[in-house]
Amino acid sequence: MALTEDSEHATKWPPGAKRTVDGEAGGRQLSIREDFKDALASWASGVSIVATRAGGLVHGVTVSSFASLSLDPPLVIACIAARSRLSPMVREARRFAISLLSADQGEASAAFARSGREPAPAFVGIDEDRTPSGMPVVAGAMAHLDCELHSELAVGDHTILVGLVVEAVTHPDKSPLLYYRRAYRRLDAGA
Ligand SMILES: Cc1cc2nc3c(=O)[nH]c(=O)nc-3n(C[C@H](O)[C@H](O)[C@H](O)COP(=O)(O)O)c2cc1C
Repeated sequence: MALTEDSEHATKWPPGAKRTVDGEAGGRQLSIREDFKDALASWASGVSIVATRAGGLVHGVTVSSFASLSLDPPLVIACIAARSRLSPMVREARRFAISLLSADQGEASAAFARSGREPAPAFVGIDEDRTPSGMPVVAGAMAHLDCELHSELAVGDHTILVGLVVEAVTHPDKSPLLYYRRAYRRLDAGA
C-alpha cells in the first residue's frame, strides 16, 4: 500500500509524530513496515492463548489479535500467522479454545510465543485445564472461550479464524494481563 503525503493533513500532525511517506507523490520511498509495527504497538491489548487438540496432541499460540465479532450468533476472531502449525490443527479438530490471560500470567504468554515448539500430549511447563469438549485451556486464566470453527479466511500473511463460542467462562476476581508498547502491563490498582 502506498501512502501519499497530503500537504493539507501533514500540517495537522503534531511535531514529533512519526509518519511514513511511501509513494511517488511524496518524493521519497520509505518502508512502511517499521512505522506500521510502531503504530500497532501503541494499541493496548489483552493477551490470549489460542489452542487446540488434534490427533492426541495440543498446541497453543500467544495471540493479541483477538476480537469479538458478533453477539447473535456469538462469534470471535483470532488472526494467526499463516506459517503457524496451529491453523492446520484447528482445521483438523474443527474446534479451538481461547484463554484470556490474567495479570500474573506473563510467563504463560512468553511460553506460548516461543518459536520452534512442537505439538505435545499436554502443555509443556504450563498448567492445563480441559473444556468439556476436550479443548486445552490455561489453568488460572481470567476467562476462556470454547469455540467451534465457524470459518477461516486467508488474508495477507495471516489466517483469520472465526470461532462460534459454545462455552464462555469468566473469573471476575481476576484482572487482565495487558500488552502495550512491547511490554506486559497491569491495570492500575485503582482501575
Ligand atoms: C504479546 C504477543 C502477541 C502475539 N500475537 C500474535 C498474534 O496475534 N498472531 C500470531 O500469529 N502471533 C502472535 N504472536 C507471536 C506468536 O505467539 C509466536 O510467533 C508463536 O511462536 C507462534 O507459535 P507457532 O510457531 O507454533 O505457530 C504474539 C506474541 C506475543 C508475545
